Amino acid sequence: MTHAERFTHLAERLAEWQPLWHCLPFQHPRLPWHRRWPGLAEALLALPDSAMSRLQEDPFTDSPLGAWLPVEELARLVALPALAEQGEALPEAWGADVGERKWRQVQAFLPQVEVARDETLVEWCAGKGHLSRALSCHHALEVTALEWQPSLCVAGQALAKRQGARVTLHEQDVMAEDAGRWLDEGTGVAALHACGDLHRRLLSLAVEAGSAVTLAPCCYQRTADDTYQPLSRLGAELMTAHGLALARDDLALAVQETVTAPRGVQRHRQRAGAWRLGFDRLQRQVRGVDAYLPVPSLAYGQMPETFEGFCHWAAQRKGIALPADVDWRGLEAAGWERQAQVSRLELARHLFRRPLEVWLALDRTAFLEEAGYSVALGTFCNRALTPRNLVLKARRRSTNP
Ligand SMILES: C[S@@+](CC[C@H](N)C(=O)[O-])C[C@H]1O[C@@H](n2cnc3c(N)ncnc32)[C@H](O)[C@@H]1O
Repeated sequence: MTHAERFTHLAERLAEWQPLWHCLPFQHPRLPWHRRWPGLAEALLALPDSAMSRLQEDPFTDSPLGAWLPVEELARLVALPALAEQGEALPEAWGADVGERKWRQVQAFLPQVEVARDETLVEWCAGKGHLSRALSCHHALEVTALEWQPSLCVAGQALAKRQGARVTLHEQDVMAEDAGRWLDEGTGVAALHACGDLHRRLLSLAVEAGSAVTLAPCCYQRTADDTYQPLSRLGAELMTAHGLALARDDLALAVQETVTAPRGVQRHRQRAGAWRLGFDRLQRQVRGVDAYLPVPSLAYGQMPETFEGFCHWAAQRKGIALPADVDWRGLEAAGWERQAQVSRLELARHLFRRPLEVWLALDRTAFLEEAGYSVALGTFCNRALTPRNLVLKARRRSTNP
């Protein structure tokens, strides 16, 4: 299947099922799509806990939702090649100052960065330049690392010095007008987990300059635009032809899948979810308005001790006066019950997370191809290491074959 075919088929399926994946079940005690796909909600609600956890982890394997949803077709459309060549293991000493997971990501990403003869390397949004140091040591090359936070540049420069890596960190806002000065046709740019507008900027500057790109995109929703602006001509055509419109919140769906959190964090999230749903029921009763009211989220550790305490906090934030005779126990139990339902109903939406992410990566792929690049799109590591495991490897096709 060509990139364009995959891109087109995914646009069709995403547009067709948008009413389903667009809907946030926690906001709707009565699902807007309930009548349109009869039996689906009931099938989801009947799932035992074990099936629910399994499908949360892997929505495409042995899914009972195949009777309603195009599970197999979506699974085919998101199956991309693993581009990870098993490079030789890097010396552990190079990763001494890097968190364990980040270091394993760097190790997996490094073999994707192919360096042509006489090419100079730039890292885009480098943080402390962990990838730059590994690239520099591995290829015995000088690497230029761009990062806008002065403290990260200072810390990164000290690490490079300590390790004897030929890396120079430059304080550079990549969104600034002068950011293109680092790129030309003899440059290869590497970007590991560059967010929305930061990697969009990289792609447009790289295409202008003719630089090669190795990019693992992430956080598509971090963008100044309220609605998604396709990068490629084909993307724009597909969106118009199929009536596919993506708001910033929709883009967040593409990166919602996270590595399974530790148990304590999972329990905290479940409790926070149940309490919010309990409060949702209460606020609808108290206000006499059957509509969802967004409540800000609370960081781990800031959550009140009890459900009652949480409701008082949320009510105060929303300017709602609570009555004195609330059945706190009953309401909390209702919150937990609804939490179990919402987790199941969410599974329908989760089936479209990866398709949306792959579609967004294909828009970047199409943009580069339209600019005369040859592009490989695949994965650079197992999703357990990071669910943001897509990589685009792009190089401008030679004009004189
Ligand atoms: C998600 S982190 C990735 C860092 C590194 N590539 C990694 O994988 O560890 C994104 C980095 O981009 C930097 N950043 C954010 N906005 C930027 C801008 N406008 N110009 C340059 N760097 C920026 C952040 O400070 C942060 O270090």
